[in-house]
Amino acid sequence: MCGIVGYIGERDIKKFLLEGLKELEYRGYDSAGIAILQEGKLLIFKAVGKLENLIQKAKDLKTEGFGVGIGHTRWATHGKPTELNAHPQMGEFSYVVHNGIIENFKEIKSFLKEKQFLSQTDTEVIVHLFEKNLEELGNPKEAFKRTVKTLKGAYAILLITKADPNSIYFAKKGSPLIVGRDKDEVFFSSSDSPLIGYAKEVYYLEDGEWGVASKGKIEIFEGSKRVEREFKPLTINKELAQKGGYRFFMEKEIYEQSDVIIDTMMGRVKEDRIELEELDKEFLEGVENIKICACGTSYNAGLTGAYLIEKLAKIPANAEIASEFRYKEPVLLNNTLFIVISQSGETADTLEALKMAKSEGLKTLAICNVDNSSIVRLADRTILTRAGIEKGVASTKAFTTQVMVLWMLALYLAQENLKKELKENELKAMTKTPLALKVSTSLHERIKRLSKRYLHGHGFFFIGRDIFYPLALEGALKLKEISYLHAEGYPAGEMKHGPIALADPELFTIALMPKNLLYEKIKSNVEELSARDSTICAISPVEFELADDFIKVNNATHYMLEYYEMAVVMQLLAMEIAIRLGNDVDMPRNLAKSVTVE
Ligand code: G6P
Repeated sequence: MCGIVGYIGERDIKKFLLEGLKELEYRGYDSAGIAILQEGKLLIFKAVGKLENLIQKAKDLKTEGFGVGIGHTRWATHGKPTELNAHPQMGEFSYVVHNGIIENFKEIKSFLKEKQFLSQTDTEVIVHLFEKNLEELGNPKEAFKRTVKTLKGAYAILLITKADPNSIYFAKKGSPLIVGRDKDEVFFSSSDSPLIGYAKEVYYLEDGEWGVASKGKIEIFEGSKRVEREFKPLTINKELAQKGGYRFFMEKEIYEQSDVIIDTMMGRVKEDRIELEELDKEFLEGVENIKICACGTSYNAGLTGAYLIEKLAKIPANAEIASEFRYKEPVLLNNTLFIVISQSGETADTLEALKMAKSEGLKTLAICNVDNSSIVRLADRTILTRAGIEKGVASTKAFTTQVMVLWMLALYLAQENLKKELKENELKAMTKTPLALKVSTSLHERIKRLSKRYLHGHGFFFIGRDIFYPLALEGALKLKEISYLHAEGYPAGEMKHGPIALADPELFTIALMPKNLLYEKIKSNVEELSARDSTICAISPVEFELADDFIKVNNATHYMLEYYEMAVVMQLLAMEIAIRLGNDVDMPRNLAKSVTVE
């Protein structure tokens, strides 16, 4: 969602802020802005749309010598994406950037009736409230403390003010914020990537912490209490976060899957068993069922996981969409292991679901790609997916690695009771996944060619059965996210109970037809659609003569290998369709990489 950067020091502030915002582009945004305080002068630039517009606006700005600056990419929540609503939001002599939602902004606004509000944002109340508090208290630190105390909701805030021109005030609750340093320089960001190559050491602020930073000095408080925090070295390598020859980050990430899945399995898939050092007998003692909660792609991985856990470990498992779970007054039993899945570890609905489970005393496990994220910090245990930074908004390698963790987990839970041959069969299949995920040039070329036939029509149905049903959901999600075409994932056996009414030549059916799982069943479902003249693209290792188009996958011996190959096929298909339609594959309209509001 929104991205935040900040800087105190002597280097070219404009350059740091704009480069930092560029690094955060992948989170999705609709406007951006920077504000700089240098030699007592406040400078501000804001622009709607791509960062390039902001760069153009600020092109004559020279920033040399000491100064402080803040920057922001905004994804509209309160108020449309306009320049006035873009951050930094301004008061009379102070500027603020904010990520999150101030839930009591209406109350604060009516309390500040003498102030003039220029935007429709909830954020603007922060800066006016700060200035009002400053008028009363005369001390910026006290004024900021009181401001933060008044705010309800979620926030990561950076504020600069002429009243203390060499400092940045910061606060964090519910939205991520990192403070970094290198000698006298101080850096802020809402995620690691802008800090790489700049900050030597970082501290991931905790909820409820706020503070003030100036040259060579970072003071952190919890309420009124000054606290000392340990900064840790920032070791992530920037090169890994670059596009490296591919047209889009999404394409690079699709191709990377074959490698990163090895990292996911490393030290965990052994010759005769699964080893998960994150779990132990004591933690799992008394667990009789499993509930998985997530959003978007992570939910689709979760649903696959629920099937796998029941199939292999014979433990009742189900998956729920976090935004539904939160408000349905769920019955939580303390023999339930509560698993949350999240690429970013910051998704608000998933985080809240996790908080609910924790407060009911359930054992919690996070499957996550971002270490130190809010979800990881909150869960009892975490299994990291190790997919590396994922920049494409449409998730690919995060998904396949999440599924791998769930598959390993299912086998881990099953292994004591599973017959030797069955266990060996699973383990052997796991070691073959890197190959199943490998993109061959001929397959990619074929999909590229085929994609031109799928640019119109009145809709797509992706259909599958068993674990290929959540995979169908994921295929449809990928397509709609980046092509903006209407697509639905459906359990193949359910088509006859309604959706088949839509069947005609302009309805495109993408049929997932694995050889190793319910082939005959799915075949007859596809035949029903073919009889109604739907246009069918079959993905299968087995030739299917009723298909209009056929994408052949390898003749694998395990359904999970078919699953992975088909996942790649659908990712490539969605991407090639989106490219032909001229869409921005990495940053699709209206979407954000990490949704930190509900
Ligand atoms: C957003 C993204 C999706 C993602 C979902 C869950 O909606 O656009 O791609 O699947 O959030 O994100 P998470 O980081 O929790 O996996």
